[in-house]
Formats: sequence, structure tokens, C-alpha cells
Amino acid sequence: MVRESWASRVGFILAAVGSAVGLGNVWRFPWMTAEYGGSAFLVVYLCIVLLVGVPGLLAEFVIGRRSNRNPAGALARLAPGTKSWGYVGLFGVVTALILLSFYSVVGGWIVRYFLASFSGSYFADPSGYFGTISFGWEAVAFQVAFLALTALVVLGGVRRGIEAATKVMMPLIVVLLAVLAGWAVTRPGAGAGLSFYLHFDPAPIKNDPIGMLRAAAGQALFTLSLGVGTMITYASYLGEDNSLPFDGSVIAVLNTAVGVLAGLVVFPLLFAFQGGLTEVTRGGESGAIFMGVAGAFREMPYGEVVAVGFFAAILFAALSSSISMLEIPVAYLVDEQDVSRRNATLGLTALVLVTGAVCALTPSVFTFVAGTLVDLMLTAGLAGFLVFTGWILGKNALAEFDSGAGGIARSLGTPWLWGVRTILPLFLLVTLALNLYSLLSG
Ligand code: PHE
Repeated sequence: MVRESWASRVGFILAAVGSAVGLGNVWRFPWMTAEYGGSAFLVVYLCIVLLVGVPGLLAEFVIGRRSNRNPAGALARLAPGTKSWGYVGLFGVVTALILLSFYSVVGGWIVRYFLASFSGSYFADPSGYFGTISFGWEAVAFQVAFLALTALVVLGGVRRGIEAATKVMMPLIVVLLAVLAGWAVTRPGAGAGLSFYLHFDPAPIKNDPIGMLRAAAGQALFTLSLGVGTMITYASYLGEDNSLPFDGSVIAVLNTAVGVLAGLVVFPLLFAFQGGLTEVTRGGESGAIFMGVAGAFREMPYGEVVAVGFFAAILFAALSSSISMLEIPVAYLVDEQDVSRRNATLGLTALVLVTGAVCALTPSVFTFVAGTLVDLMLTAGLAGFLVFTGWILGKNALAEFDSGAGGIARSLGTPWLWGVRTILPLFLLVTLALNLYSLLSG
């Protein structure tokens, strides 16, 4: 059977931005920013996105487009004669399933908050509400609904499923968030939120530099969907005429812009209607943002309308990311094991129903997977992809980087390859070591 490909360049870019823009931007990013001191975290994070994220994204693109395969097949095919690189790709396939297991729990919360926004039933007691719905069998039920939506898109395939869905969802997210941000920043009292978010204060960097670095690095990889092979898989459906450096930059810029936009909704709302970061939102728990914005919706006129818009945007963002997670193992089964897309999608969804339910029923497992484990696996995965690109592909990586690229972009190829060979994997390995150290030292 002929392998599928994107119908258009815009389609590919929107699908990749759709993967990048997700709960990472609207849920994890404001949470991390609040926990690590606002603007200082934003600055460190932006530097890592630019210096590590974008080159990493390009490395995944190069692997994907060169091989036209899922991560496991890609690395095995591009390094013939050794089996071991295939396992590095397979590690990404497994990571994707683990990611989806916890991500679909949060996806389920969002389905629930979206529906409950019409009546505003969670406004009165935000933390009580979150406490009752977040874990348990009801959480599993909503998680199943979220996974079903995800599977439905992936069943449709690359063009008719992923491309068609993200083409509709991405513009909607931007419009919804822009309207909400425009409204939020003009509320009386929003200024304090903006200054917490945007006024640079270096003190938090000095307080806990290592902690902030770890968090910022983890967040940078997570938000760009790196280290799993999503971007390998999406680029494997590309033709040779796309400029990878150009497309990669557009994707990173759009992803960051939506992240910052989400911050412009969340922080002004919290400061204008809640008087700042309450203890709830400062606690750094996964539910902080839900409870924080719920309290703000309660205080504002037409809170239900704002809430429906807010959770619709997040639901689209979450779905366009979860489909990119499911697509990795689906592509693996289709490419390597000759399974039909239909059977692969249904079988893998059934598997994640089980592993995901474990996350939805046990909060401690959820927190460990969503934080520590994901940071570790993404960092290790991307380090593997970079070493592979730099040392195994080498000059071929450069040729792939240049193919379809214009003059200016090509001149970036050599410094890129140099970074991919040396300093970038080193940075990731140091981050990995710091993460492991903090895990083991409790
Ligand atoms: N980038 C997505 C987000 O921000 C998460 C994701 C990570 C998606 C890894 C795919 C792979 O929500």
C-alpha cells in the first residue's frame, strides 16, 4: 500500500503546531511559570526553546523525512547493520503510550469542565469540585470519552483525519484565546497579573537555579513534542520540497505565541478576580489552574460564557496533541508489523484504556508519570535522536536539512550539525543526570 502524505504544506505545519500546542501550553506552562517565579522562568524557558528546542525539532524532522518511517523503523532503516538504534526509536514509541496514559486523564477533566461550564456547576466550590472529579471511576469515564475522540481522528488517517481536524481546530484555538486575552487584560486589576508574568525579576533564578533549569528544560521539550518521535512521525509524511528550517521556525514561533497568549488569559484572570495567586494555585499541583480559573469565572459577569470558550480552546488544543501521540504507535504497527490502520488504532486505544485507567485511579502514579517520568523519558529520547542525527547520519543529515531550504536557511546547517553533535546532547545528558539525582535523593 502507498504510504500516506500530507495534502499541503499548511496542513503539515498546522498538524505539527497542533501537536505542539496542547496542555503543555495552557495547563503545564502557567503552572510551571507560577511555581518558578513568573517572568524569570519565562525567560529561561524561551532561551531553551530557541537554543535546544528548535535544533532538536529539526533533528527529528531530518530523521523522519529521510526515512519516511515511524521512529523505530526510521532509526533501524537509517542505521543498517545494527539493531540497537531501532530500540532507541522503539523507546519513543513506548514513551508515546505512557504519555497518552496520563494526558488522557487531563483530557477527560477538560471534557468534563467543558460540559459543566454551560451550567457553571463547579463555580461555587472550585477545589471541592476538582477534588471529587479528578481521580476515580468517573475520571476514567471521561478519559474514555477523550480517548474515543482521539481515536476517531486517528482512524481517519493522515489527510482525512489528522490534517482535516487540525486545520479546523488550530485557528479556532487562536481566535478563542485571543478574544479571551483581549478581554482579560482589560479587566480592572489585571495589571498586577501582567507584571507578575512579564516584568522580569531575576530573584527566582538565584534562589533555585538548578530546579528552574530542570523545569524549564523539561517544559521546553514537552511543549515542542520532542523526544518521543512525534515530529519524526509527522515529518515522515512530508515531501522533499518543504524547507525544514523554515517550517520548524514557524512551528516553534506559533507554539510559543499560543503559550504566551494562554498566559495572558490565565494570569490577568487570576489577579483581577482572585486577587493574585492564591495558595491553591501556588501549591504547584496539577489541578491548580483548574481551581484558579474556576474561582475567577465565579466572580465575573457571564462567567459561564467565558468558561465555555476557555475550555473549548483547551479541549481542541489537547485533542490535536493526543492524536499526535496515538499516531506514533499506530504508524509503528502499520509500517513495521503490517497491521491495518483500523486495527492498530482500535487495539492501541484499548491498551491505553487500561494503562490510562491506572493513572486515573491512582493519583500518586499520575503525578509521577506526568512530572518526573515524562521529563526523564523525553530528555533521554531527544538525547538519543540528537546523537543519532549528529554521529550516525552526519553529512546525510546536512543534505536532508538543506533539501528544499533557501540560501539563508542552508547557511545554518553547519552550525546546527555542530550543535547537534556536541553541546546539545551534552546539555540534555546533564539535565538527565540532574533529574535522576533529584529523583534518587528524594
Ligand atoms: N506538546 C504537547 C503539549 O504541549 C504534548 C506532547 C508531548 C505531544 C510529546 C506529543 C508528544 O501539550
